[in-house]
Amino acid sequence: MSCVFFLVGDLPSKQVSISLPPSINFRSLKQAVSEKFSIIDPSALSFLTGGTVCDNLASLKQFPKPIGVLVNGRAVSDPPGPRGLPFIGSHCEVYPDHIGNHERLFQIYGPIFKTTIMGRTVYHTNEPEIVAHVFKETAFFTKEINEAHPLYGVKSPHAGVFLTDTHTDVWKEAHKFMVPAFGPRAIDKYSTVVVATARKTFPVFDKLEEENLAWNVYDYMLKLASQIVGELFIDADFGHFEKFDSPIHDTVAAIFRLLGLNKKVTSWGDWYTWLPFGDPKRLRDTWHDVGSRVGKHIAVASIGEGDIPLQEAALKAKNLTDYFIRATDNKGNKMSAESRRPALIVAVTAGFVTTSALLSWLLFGLVTYDGCQSIILQELVDNGMTEETEMTGEFIGKLSFLDKFVKETQRHHTTSFQPARTARTDLILPNGFRLPKGAVVIPEVHHLHHNSQIWENPTRFDPERWDTEQVKSRHRASYIPFAMGPRMCIAMNFVTREVKILLAQLVYRYEFIRHGTNTIEYDPMFQTIRPRNLYMRTRKRVSWPSLTKTDS
Ligand code: HEM
Repeated sequence: MSCVFFLVGDLPSKQVSISLPPSINFRSLKQAVSEKFSIIDPSALSFLTGGTVCDNLASLKQFPKPIGVLVNGRAVSDPPGPRGLPFIGSHCEVYPDHIGNHERLFQIYGPIFKTTIMGRTVYHTNEPEIVAHVFKETAFFTKEINEAHPLYGVKSPHAGVFLTDTHTDVWKEAHKFMVPAFGPRAIDKYSTVVVATARKTFPVFDKLEEENLAWNVYDYMLKLASQIVGELFIDADFGHFEKFDSPIHDTVAAIFRLLGLNKKVTSWGDWYTWLPFGDPKRLRDTWHDVGSRVGKHIAVASIGEGDIPLQEAALKAKNLTDYFIRATDNKGNKMSAESRRPALIVAVTAGFVTTSALLSWLLFGLVTYDGCQSIILQELVDNGMTEETEMTGEFIGKLSFLDKFVKETQRHHTTSFQPARTARTDLILPNGFRLPKGAVVIPEVHHLHHNSQIWENPTRFDPERWDTEQVKSRHRASYIPFAMGPRMCIAMNFVTREVKILLAQLVYRYEFIRHGTNTIEYDPMFQTIRPRNLYMRTRKRVSWPSLTKTDS
């Protein structure tokens, strides 16, 4: 036998007939109906017979008329959103303060809303249930950088990671080769470069103190994070700490410019990308410039002899460039020569642009949230830290307050890339929201991390929340500083170790002091969320607190 179903809220003409074999149960019925209507979550379905919800299979089978389908008890509908102005659409509803304005739009429209700018529609969500589906890489969603995607201006078919669609052999290959480069033993090895680079900053901070100079936190963190990835990935010494005022290296400056331009250009929609003058042209020229600059570093990077099996390549290679050239899988395959340079550009870019923003917010936290700096210092002292302490994984693992401080900073001061995924088909999300094929959905990481349905008092910086049951049992998609799913950050564990090592070393040696009382502004026209007007001073410590007395 068969029954006719229709989506409540949809056109009656879209009803479908589904055959119900005798063996069917309620669960498989929901599955079959979901497949017909491309509803992502079959468990969200309920059935309406003549205006009442029916959860009895026998009654459903006997119902003589079309059966209504609800999703999470709701009729299907298009996500709402501001109507916008002619031509530019919602641009003024979103920019310049996209964080504040997205928050306002979530308040008005709920967990998913759409904005249309210059004819390109994007969907924004702060709802973990939706986010979890969006990031999964299934028949419903994938990372496909189409014209509405925030990375469209820098899409690269050869980079493999980050800037390339998932359903390409290039991504599969680059991902396969890149993930082992960030395994636990590789991270131990990279930690020595992190420690050595932190030490290079000491004479610089000493000199700044001696000269009684305040410094721009983001600029110095940009220098620090790029100095590390320069050495690790392309064997480049950017010379950022040769003098206290060493300039930012041209390669780093070009990458920084690139990410500002991409944000600016994509905020106006894809048609703008193709203009032959102005920022769009500058974006294309800068992309070129970055490629040739990084190419020059790669050309002179130190390369070892002979192939290295993939699983041990990270330990034996001299740097990531060497790794990409010599790592060989068990079938004798290597990363294609065509992908190496773009993948290295991505690694360097992703490697310092985000980390410098995170480090800046961590320093902001030290000088802004009462007590955090002294608790971290006390924890270092209580764990026996000295200037000579080795920054092993074991030592860093003991620093539980530091761990909570980093987590809370990544929640409250999300650096976010606006990761986005694309619908592969017309589909229905939880709560009945309808999306067309090709729709770009942005899980808004900052707003997910401030969703008051998930986080108690979300605007409060509270590292201790990470010890509460509520946070421990949170929805797995409610905290995603590194995104989630197959296209999430491949360097999450490296970065987490890196910033903890840097903080431990810096806080042990210096007291960080805020310079000025101005309101800290984020840069709305940059790909990551970074503070642009935060200044600080350091004071070299001459004494440390005593060990905390314990009862035993
Ligand atoms: C605080 C530091 C970092 C944060 C917050 C961060 C965050 C993220 C996020 C949110 C994504 C997903 C992007 C998307 O879906 O479009 C991502 C992807 C990625 N990240 Fe990171 N990242 C950080 C540092 C790094 C570092 C140091 C590297 C070094 C190689 C790196 C390499 C990558 C790569 C290669 C991808 C793309 C993976 C793929 O396409 O499959 N990230 N990162």
